[in-house]
Amino acid sequence: MTNEIYLAPMEGLTGYIIRNAFHHHFDYIDKYYTPFIPAAKRMNFKIKNDISPDNNAGIIVVPQLMTIIGEEAMDMAHQLRDYGYNEVNINLGCPSGTVVSKGRGSGILADPEKLDHFLEELYSIADMNVTIKTRVGFNDDESWPRLVEIYSKYPISELTIHPRVQKDFYKGAIRLEDFDLAVSAIDQSKTRLVYNGDINSMENFNLIKERYPSINSFMIGRGMFMHPSLAAQIKGVTMEEAEYRQRLKNWHDEILNGYLELFSGEKDAIFRMKEIWSYLKDDFEDSNRIWKKIKKAQNVADYKAAISTIF
Ligand SMILES: Cc1cc2nc3c(=O)[nH]c(=O)nc-3n(C[C@H](O)[C@H](O)[C@H](O)COP(=O)(O)O)c2cc1C
Repeated sequence: MTNEIYLAPMEGLTGYIIRNAFHHHFDYIDKYYTPFIPAAKRMNFKIKNDISPDNNAGIIVVPQLMTIIGEEAMDMAHQLRDYGYNEVNINLGCPSGTVVSKGRGSGILADPEKLDHFLEELYSIADMNVTIKTRVGFNDDESWPRLVEIYSKYPISELTIHPRVQKDFYKGAIRLEDFDLAVSAIDQSKTRLVYNGDINSMENFNLIKERYPSINSFMIGRGMFMHPSLAAQIKGVTMEEAEYRQRLKNWHDEILNGYLELFSGEKDAIFRMKEIWSYLKDDFEDSNRIWKKIKKAQNVADYKAAISTIF
C-alpha cells in the first residue's frame, strides 16, 4: 500500500494560505487538518474564511474541533457540513495550559471515565465521520492501556496518535512502546491508525515505517516546515536541487504575499514568516546566520533583504 501523508493541524501555521502553498508547489499531501476550531455557537469570520471552499479549492481539508461535549461537537460539525465537509476531527491532544485547564484537548486524558462518557455521547449522535487525534496520557502513560480499551469501543474510523503525554509538550523521546500497544490492541480493519510525531527526515520516517509495516498513514507537522519536500521524498519523488529551490521560493513567496494581503499590518505577516523560518532554517546549511538576520527584521523591506541571499 502506498503511504498517505497528512499535514498536521498547527495553530497559527496550517491555515488556508499555507495549505494552498503546499497544494500549489509541493502537492504530495493527501489530507490537510485545520488548526483547532474552538467550540462556539457560531463560527467567527476568521474561521469561516479559513474553511471556506473558495479558499481551499482542490484541497482535501479536515476541520479539527476543540470540544469535549458531544452535542457541541455535532453542532459544529453540522455547521461545517453546510460548507460541504463530511468529516471532522476531535482534538484530544492539545497540551496548552488554557486548554487543559478546561478539561479539553489532552486535559480529558487525565480522566479516562470522562473520555468514555464523551465518546459514548458523541458516537451515539454522530451522523458524520468523526475522527480523533490523541496523546497517550496526561502526566504519564500509565492509563494508556485503559485509554486504548476505551478508544477500541467506538466506531472511530481514524485515530491519530502522537505518542507523548501532555507533560512532554512537543519535546523529549517519543513513547514508541505506547504506539506498539495501540498497533497490537486496535483493530486496524475498523480503525485506521495514523502515526504522528517527530517525522522530520527520511531517516526518521524509515525507522518508523520499519517498526510499523502495517501503518500507512503518517501525519507530519514541524517536519513539513523543516523540509517542505518531505512528503515528496516519502512518496519517492525525486527532484533536482535547482528545481527544489525554485519550488521552495515559489512556496515561500505565495505564503508571504498571502499573509501581507490577509493581515492589515506588515508586522503580523512578518511575525508569521518568522515562525515558518524557525523550522525552515534547518533546510539551509548556513542556518544560524540566516536565522539571525530574519529574526531582526521588523518590516517587509528588512525581511526581504534578509532572505535575498537565500533564494
Ligand atoms: C505551533 C504548533 C501548533 C499546533 N497546533 C495544533 C492544533 O491546532 N491541533 C492539534 O491537534 N495539534 C496541534 N499541534 C500538534 C501537531 O499537530 C503535532 O501533533 C505535533 O507537532 C507533533 O508532530 P510533529 O513532530 O510532526 O510536529 C501543534 C503543534 C505546534 C508545534
